[in-house]
Amino acid sequence: MADWTDFIQQVKRANDIVDVIGSYLELRHSGANFMARCPFHGEKTPSFNVNRNLQIYKCFGCGESGDVIKFVEKYESCTFYEALEILAKRAGLKMPENTRDKSDVEYSERKKKRETYLDICRQTARFYYRCYYGEKGEIARRYVAKRGFDEQTVKKFGIGYSPNGNALPQHLQSLGFKLEDCVKCGVIQQTKQGYNDALYGRLIIPIFNMQGQVIAFGGRGLDERTIERGKYKNTSETPLFVKKDNLFAINIAKEQKQLTSLPYLVVVEGYMDVIAMYQAGFKGAVASMGTSLTEQQAKWLSRLSDTVYICYDGDSAGQKATVRGMDILDRAGLEVKVMTVPEKLDPDEYIKKYGAQAFEQLIKEALPLPDYKLKLLDATFPINSGDSTQRNDALPKYVKGALNMLRSLDDVRQARYITAVSLKTGYSEDYIKRKLAEGDKPDLAEVTVGALSPEDKAKYYVASCILHGESYATLEEKPLCNTSFLSALFDYILQCKAEGVTPAMDMIYTVCPNAEEAQYAQIVDVDFSADKQERNKRYFEECKRLITVETLKHKRDLLLKKIKQNPDDGSLLEELNKLSKQIADAR
Ligand code: UTP
Ligand code: MN
Repeated sequence: MADWTDFIQQVKRANDIVDVIGSYLELRHSGANFMARCPFHGEKTPSFNVNRNLQIYKCFGCGESGDVIKFVEKYESCTFYEALEILAKRAGLKMPENTRDKSDVEYSERKKKRETYLDICRQTARFYYRCYYGEKGEIARRYVAKRGFDEQTVKKFGIGYSPNGNALPQHLQSLGFKLEDCVKCGVIQQTKQGYNDALYGRLIIPIFNMQGQVIAFGGRGLDERTIERGKYKNTSETPLFVKKDNLFAINIAKEQKQLTSLPYLVVVEGYMDVIAMYQAGFKGAVASMGTSLTEQQAKWLSRLSDTVYICYDGDSAGQKATVRGMDILDRAGLEVKVMTVPEKLDPDEYIKKYGAQAFEQLIKEALPLPDYKLKLLDATFPINSGDSTQRNDALPKYVKGALNMLRSLDDVRQARYITAVSLKTGYSEDYIKRKLAEGDKPDLAEVTVGALSPEDKAKYYVASCILHGESYATLEEKPLCNTSFLSALFDYILQCKAEGVTPAMDMIYTVCPNAEEAQYAQIVDVDFSADKQERNKRYFEECKRLITVETLKHKRDLLLKKIKQNPDDGSLLEELNKLSKQIADAR
């Protein structure tokens, strides 16, 4: 274990955080630090701060902070281990052979498998692509032409064709892959008759992950007989492909962001919608592939832009699951706007019928999520129909729905929409505010931070000063720790002390991985500028005193218990006297 931490430290020393982040983002000097636009939430003015001294980054917009490993982990959307690997490679360091550690053996086996599966998917995509242009691909090419997609679009999406059931298994076998691996990654199906291409007879649309690797395929039936078995068929769930966590064309949106910028994303339902939109010049379109949106998808999206338009087919847009999906995006900090396509057309059909400009107009007319929810409410409980009985019936239900909507908003937006709801319903703003307050539940995040006792706050402060290398900041004994975060933190600090090495701020992400952002913030948000030094020092002494008193009191409690069990032990009483005096002194 110690070797492992040593290795992590070695990798970190060899990868200066400014150099590494600078290779991903455009960093600008700002005083002693470097600034950039935060890659983890969309923003126009830079609030993402990289600190070379402390080897940490922190975004003052979204609160995200971390060390160089966490940055790579987040940016590349990979695991801690993979991020470490990337950085080790960058510095020319060899990963240790972790044959002793079982989980690492499992990991490296899993990783090897994963590489094989990715290989199979890549070769499969190339095979389909060749078939599309081959003799048998005629039918696919005709279909694509009929739908109006040009050569460039076909190439961009890597569209292919599967001519029959056995060509693909044969091909993959000839490349040396085991058929069972091909089954595991979903491209081959095992049937009673033998091994078969899972998507044979279909037009093939490869699905890529954020890193641009093929992980699955969608297949559209081209003739009636195939369509009878499903208009579309997708690769089944595999270790590479979890349908609900992926978004079709996320790789293209990412590329677009890197090429120019991505003012907004559009989430649509179908493959063909994305492809048609791309061809029409809307290059930030992704498809949710027929499932409701998930938190993982929200993360992908928020990494690329801060505004997301939802453009669903008319019949599915108002469904509960759909609205829940939009709420997930909203909670992820994205600005969500909802488009309505007239005549129950999907984006592909609409663009074909009315052109790109008309579609652009639909984007402009999209409703912010709260307005859209009010519109849905109005459609279910019409309160402005002019019929007073109907209105009286609908009003309480409408208000209940509106209150729920208002509760999901932050303060600023809430104030604005309280006015809107008041105007619509005729209830006063005060009444609505009162109703909101009645059902108000405190925010969980606030509870965890706000509920910190003075002693716990003091512990964070003390740790922060020590990790910042302040000369006055010393610690002799581990404080009482009621969270694993604090406990791991002080273990690390005291271990460094025992070994005579300087503790480093950026190690908090290594010794306490997966803590809450609010916890990291307690450590990294302290202002250590020169003019604050006097104050910091005073505050540190005060915090240490608080902690000492707490520890002494705890010792006294333990001692009192012991005395209860052994009332005749004189030495215990003597100890108690000593402790009580210490407590009095410390106070
Ligand atoms: P649509 O039927 O709206 O797709 O289904 P589309 O792209 O407009 O299809 P075209 O224009 O008729 O070719 C939306 C999405 O739902 C999934 C697919 O991901 C599809 O793109 N779906 C649909 C399936 O997985 N299976 C199906 O049988 C149908
Ligand atoms: Mn369609």
